[in-house]
Amino acid sequence: MEAIESRDFHAILVTGGAGFIGSNFVRYMLSKYPDYNIINLDKLTYAGNLENLKDVEDNPNYFLVKGDICDRELIDALFSGKHSIFKREASDYLEPVDCIVNFAAESHVDRSILGPEEFLRTNIMGTFTLVETARKYWGNDHNKLFLHISTDEVFGSLGVEGYFTEDTPYTPNSPYSASKAASDHLVRAYYHTYSLPTITTNCSNNYGPYQFPEKLIPLILLNALEGKKLPVYGDGKNVRDWLYIEDHCSAIDTVLHSGEFGETYNIGGNNEWKNIDIVNLICKILDELTPNKPYAAHSSLITFVKDRPGHDRRYAIDASKIKKELGWKPQYTFEKAIKKTIMWYLDNEEWCKGVMSGAYRDYYERQYGM
Ligand code: NAD
Ligand code: DAU
Repeated sequence: MEAIESRDFHAILVTGGAGFIGSNFVRYMLSKYPDYNIINLDKLTYAGNLENLKDVEDNPNYFLVKGDICDRELIDALFSGKHSIFKREASDYLEPVDCIVNFAAESHVDRSILGPEEFLRTNIMGTFTLVETARKYWGNDHNKLFLHISTDEVFGSLGVEGYFTEDTPYTPNSPYSASKAASDHLVRAYYHTYSLPTITTNCSNNYGPYQFPEKLIPLILLNALEGKKLPVYGDGKNVRDWLYIEDHCSAIDTVLHSGEFGETYNIGGNNEWKNIDIVNLICKILDELTPNKPYAAHSSLITFVKDRPGHDRRYAIDASKIKKELGWKPQYTFEKAIKKTIMWYLDNEEWCKGVMSGAYRDYYERQYGM
C-alpha cells in the first residue's frame, strides 16, 4: 500500500500530555512543528507531572488545560473553540481542534489489579466521550484525525515464539489491558459506523526520560540509587519488547501525518529482554557510572518477589506494517538509549526528588496559582 500524502494540522489536542509519553510527545511536536498549536488536556492524576514540561510551558504554541477526558462539557468547549479555560487569555487561542492524540489513560497494570474502576472510567468512558464529541463536531471530515494510542498488551501473552501483528486477535489479560482493548474497539466502531477519521497504534514497552517510577526501569534505577531492594516479579523470565520514547514519538508523528484512516499500526523496536536481564544490565551500568556510590554491586539488591497475578509471559511486536507502508524505523539502539536514559535520571536529580517526595503534585498550584 502507498503511503498517503502528508496531512497538516492547526490545533492538536494531546490528552494525557503531562504523563510520560504525552510529555515527551508534546516536547517533540513543539520543537518539530513550530506552526502547530498543542493543547495539553490532563487531569493531573498521580501520573501527571507538569515538571515534565517545565522547559516548554512558556512556548507560545503550548496551551495547558487541567481537566478530565470524561468531562463532556469541557471536551465540547475544546472542540467548538469557545473555551475560556486556558491558563492564558482566551483571546490568545480561538482555533477549534482538528486533531486528537489520545494518550490519557490509567496506565499501570499493578494498579489496575488493585483497583480496576478508574481504569474503566478513564480508559473506556473517557475515550467514548472523546470519540462521541469528535463525531458531533467532525462527522466524517477527512481533514481531521482521531489518533488513539494503545498498547501491545491488548493482544495477550505470547509463548517462546511468534510476534503480535495487527491481525492478532485481542486477548487482554489484566483489567488495564481489558480497558484499553475496549477503548480500541470503540475507536474502531466509530470509524466503521460513522466514518470518523480514526487511526489506532499499538506500541510495546517504552523507556526514557520522565517515566514515573512505578514502571520497571525507573523503579529499579531509583531504588538502586537509594540502596533499596530491587523487586523482580516471579522468576524474572517474563519478556518485554522495549522501545526508546523518542522512537515512539517519531512513529506517532509518522502515523499522524501519513497513516491510513481506519487502520491500526503496531510499533516496536525488535528488542526483547527478560526482566531479570534488564535489571542486571541497569545494575551493571550504574556500577560503572556511579563508582563512588556505596551500593555497588547494585545487583546484590535484587530481590525476587511474589509474581503479578495473571502476569503475561512474553510480548513481542512485529512492526513490519508501519515500516513497509509508512517508512518509519527506530533510530536508537538499545545499548545507546538505555545508557542515555540512565544518565538522564542521574543528571536530573531534582526531578527524581520531586517525584519520590510527591512535591511534583503541587506544581500546578505553585505555577498557575489555582
Ligand atoms: P502515564 O500514566 O505516564 O500518563 C497518563 C497521563 O494521563 C497522566 O498525565 C494523567 O494525569 C493523565 N490522565 C489520566 N486520567 C485522565 C483523565 N481522566 N483525563 C485526562 N487526563 C488523564 O502513561 P504513559 O505511560 O505515558 O502512557 C500513555 C498512553 O500510552 C496510555 O494510553 C498507555 O496505555 C499507552 N502506552 C503506554 C506504553 C508504555 O510503555 N508506557 C506503551 C504502549 C502504550
Ligand atoms: O507493553 C506496553 C505496556 O507496558 C503499557 O501498555 C503499559 O502502560 C506499561 O505500564 C507497560 O506495562 P508492563 O506491565 O509491561 O510494564 P511494567 O513496567 O509495570 O513491568 C514490566 C515488566 O517488569 C513486567 O513483566 C512486570 C515486571 N516488574 C515490574 C515492576 C514494576 C517487575 O518484575 N518488578 C517491578 O517492580
